[in-house]
Parts: sequence; structure tokens; C-alpha cells
Amino acid sequence: MKAAILKGVHQPIMIEEVPTPEIKEDEVLIEIKSAALNHRDLWIQKGQYAGLKFPIILGSDGAGVIHQVDRQVKNITIGQSVVINPSWYWGSNPKVQSKEYRILGLPDNGTFAQYIKVPAIFVYPKPEHLSFSEAAAYPLAGLTAYRATITRAEVQAGEKVLITGIGGGVAFFAMQFALVRGAEVYVTSSSSEKIEKVMSYGVKAGFNYKSPSWEKEALGYTGGFDAIIDGAAGETFTKLIEVCRPGGRIVFYGGTAGIINNVLPAKVFWKQLTIMGSTMGNDTEFESMLEMIKQYKLIPMISHQFTFDNIQAAFEVMDKGEQFGKIVVNF
Ligand SMILES: NC(=O)c1ccc[n+]([C@@H]2O[C@H](COP(=O)([O-])OP(=O)(O)OC[C@H]3O[C@@H](n4cnc5c(N)ncnc54)[C@H](OP(=O)(O)O)[C@@H]3O)[C@@H](O)[C@H]2O)c1
Repeated sequence: MKAAILKGVHQPIMIEEVPTPEIKEDEVLIEIKSAALNHRDLWIQKGQYAGLKFPIILGSDGAGVIHQVDRQVKNITIGQSVVINPSWYWGSNPKVQSKEYRILGLPDNGTFAQYIKVPAIFVYPKPEHLSFSEAAAYPLAGLTAYRATITRAEVQAGEKVLITGIGGGVAFFAMQFALVRGAEVYVTSSSSEKIEKVMSYGVKAGFNYKSPSWEKEALGYTGGFDAIIDGAAGETFTKLIEVCRPGGRIVFYGGTAGIINNVLPAKVFWKQLTIMGSTMGNDTEFESMLEMIKQYKLIPMISHQFTFDNIQAAFEVMDKGEQFGKIVVNF
């Protein structure tokens, strides 16, 4: 089969012919139709990720068709259209992942290949209203957004919710999930075009985090937020503490802008804030996310699509941060 191989840090992604994986007990072989990129794939290529191992087939997101099924596996049939849960072996505690936990696409070979073998427990029917490219856009970023927004922040109807950096893959899905929950959703972005675009989805307003006093503008306009979903951390985090209402909660799932500095403890304790970290999600959350996508016929925003042979160009788009929405690779 053809696969996109990464052989080392800062190496280009090479398309090579490799043996098709052989399934073992309780596994299925999926013919990948579409895969999607996450920032994780790029961090790994740049060597900025724990547990590096080469050569590796990257890719956490994939949708395709069942090609082969181990005979022990029930309820999955050859020819079925499926989507893969990339969040493997979470374990029995819904609050935190187990020691065995891992994300598809390192250390296990991922979805940037013609075929992938996957334990059957991580395979779900593709929502019928989604194409393969659309279905491949959701798994990793959608699951992260679902846990952060629904499980951790417990966003409720009527609450004012701020989603930061709406250009990000996770942020867009957090926006979709908060909106279907009936929240009043606001965003931050470095781009007025992106803010304008999401207002057509039902977002009330947006603020440019590059503007030195965006937090004052946001406070003046909204009176503060009940919940904030953030993927940037860094310098702007103190501003999130400013714009969070007393008793509110901030959930962060990423650190694009780096270390959190200069947090004044009194701002957090006097306001009775709850600050939570969140990462990926468990099997139940993946299933609930798919249910929500099906119930509300949600569709992802796809920014760029590439053919599989052109996957290196997809990495370059992500590196330049040119995307708004997911970058998808099709076979
Ligand atoms: N913990 C997890 O399970 C998990 C899962 C997925 C991703 N992540 C992490 O979450 C982060 C986002 O990943 P992603 O794939 O969703 O996004 P992405 O496609 O990498 O997009 C990053 C976005 O971050 C926004 N941004 C940059 N600097 C910012 C700042 N100072 N304040 C607010 N927003 C800022 C930008 O939004 P604008 O374009 O609107 O300006 C940009 O489009 C990454 O650090 C990633 O590693 C964590």
C-alpha cells in the first residue's frame, strides 16, 4: 500500500510503498478515503512532541470503508463506512486517561496511508449526512472540543461563552457544540474575516486578541463570560481571567501562545473562578459527540483539501497557519 512516512525530525513526508498491515484478533482493516491534519502532526514533524519514534505513519483523523474484519468482531461488516476514534485506551476513570492511553498516529501508525488496522472498539459508523472528507475532519479536534465544552465547562443554554482563536480546528467545533447547547457564543480571533464568517453560524460578536484592549471591549459589550474555552494560554490568559464572570470557569486544552505568566492569584480566588485543563476525551464522549453531530446535522468547516500524493503541501499550509477550518487529504 501507499503510505506517508516521516523518517525523522524536520524531514519531509515521503510517499512510499509499504506492506499492508495484517489484522490480529479483534481488529479491522480500513481502506482510508479521507484523513485530516492536526497541529499534533506538525509538532511531531518538528520534533516538539513527547515519545517520538521513527519511521512513523502520522495521522489521527480518518474515515473510510471496512476492508477486512477479524472473525471475533461483531457488528462491523465489510463495505461499511466508518470513522475512527483516535483516543485509544482511555481506561475506566472518566476524569483522567489511564497509563495505557495513547493517540492514534504515534506511537501506532496513523491514518496517512491507504490502509490502517484498528482495534474494532475504536471504529464507529460514519454519520450518514457527512462525506468521507467531512467525517475525517471531526475525530481529534471534535473530541477535544466536546470534552472541553460539554463535559468540562458544562456549557448551558443561555450562558455567555467565549471561544478563543476561532481559526483553530478545536475552537470551531467548540463553537458548534456550544451553539447547539443554546449558549450565547462569542469568539476571539486575529482576523476580522474569520469573526465575520462565524457570525453567519450564530456567533454574537468577536474581539481581536491582537488589539491591546480587547478585554475591555469584550467586558463592555457582554458584561463578562460564564465559560471560556481556550487553546492558546500564553500572555492572553490573564485577559481571560479579566473577562470571566465571578463564579465562571475557564477550560484550556492547548498552549499555542506558550507559558501562562503574571496571573494575579487574587483575581482567581476572589472571583471564585474554576480553571480546568482538558485533553481529548473518552469512548463515551466520542460516541456522544457523534450523536450530537448526527442530531443537529453538523458539518465541519474544511479549509483546504489535497490529494494524498500532495500531503506535504498540506503540512506546509498548517505550518504557515493559512487555514481556517480543517485541512483534509483525500485518496
Ligand atoms: N489537548 C488536546 O487534546 C489537544 C487537541 C487538539 C489540539 N490541541 C492544541 O490546541 C491548540 C490549537 O490546536 P488546533 O489544531 O485546534 O488549532 P490550529 O489549527 O493549530 O490553530 C491555531 C489557532 O490558534 C489561534 N491563536 C493563535 N495565537 C492565539 C492567541 N494568542 N490567542 C488566541 N488564539 C490564538 C489562531 O486563531 P485565529 O486564526 O482566529 O487568530 C489560530 O488559528 C494547539 O496548541 C494544539 O496543540 C490540544
